[in-house]
Amino acid sequence: MAAQRTLCIVKPDAVEKRRSGAILQCIEESGFKLVALKMTHLSRGEAEGFYEVHRQRPFFGELVEFMTRSPVVIAVLERDEAVTAWRDAMGATDPAKAAAGTIRKQFGANVGENATHGSDSLDNARREIAYFFAGTEVSPTA
Ligand code: RTP
Ligand code: MG
Repeated sequence: MAAQRTLCIVKPDAVEKRRSGAILQCIEESGFKLVALKMTHLSRGEAEGFYEVHRQRPFFGELVEFMTRSPVVIAVLERDEAVTAWRDAMGATDPAKAAAGTIRKQFGANVGENATHGSDSLDNARREIAYFFAGTEVSPTA
């Protein structure tokens, strides 16, 4: 089966709690390969552009405030069926509803501050990877 890539963001809540290393360890132990990695403090414009699809949602302002309040760790993950596998590993958006053992259950605080982001489709994964990484920053496909 062909390898796929998806985008992971370790959100400000998890970085503030110094859990980014633990989350990256879970990711690697779940069979993903890290193919690009950076830490950055998102600007308001970067966060708004990234979550543009949610602009009309009631939580948009809160989401942008949260995503820009402190640094994030952004990673490109690779494995078979990476998009679905990463969504499954993260668990439900609301950590209280996430299955035992998932990243959001272990590391998330609430529906807004839920530790990680994952692309929700292969098309969005490609768009999101290109949003944060220049082609030269991402390891070529093996
Ligand atoms: P993400 O895009 O971050 O991977 O999360 P998701 O697909 O599971 O959820 P989505 O519906 O795309 O929502 C994006 C992020 O917005 C925040 N949110 N807050 N207060 C609320 O009701 C609410 N709902 C969503 C969360 O940070 C969520 O991950
Ligand atoms: Mg989403």
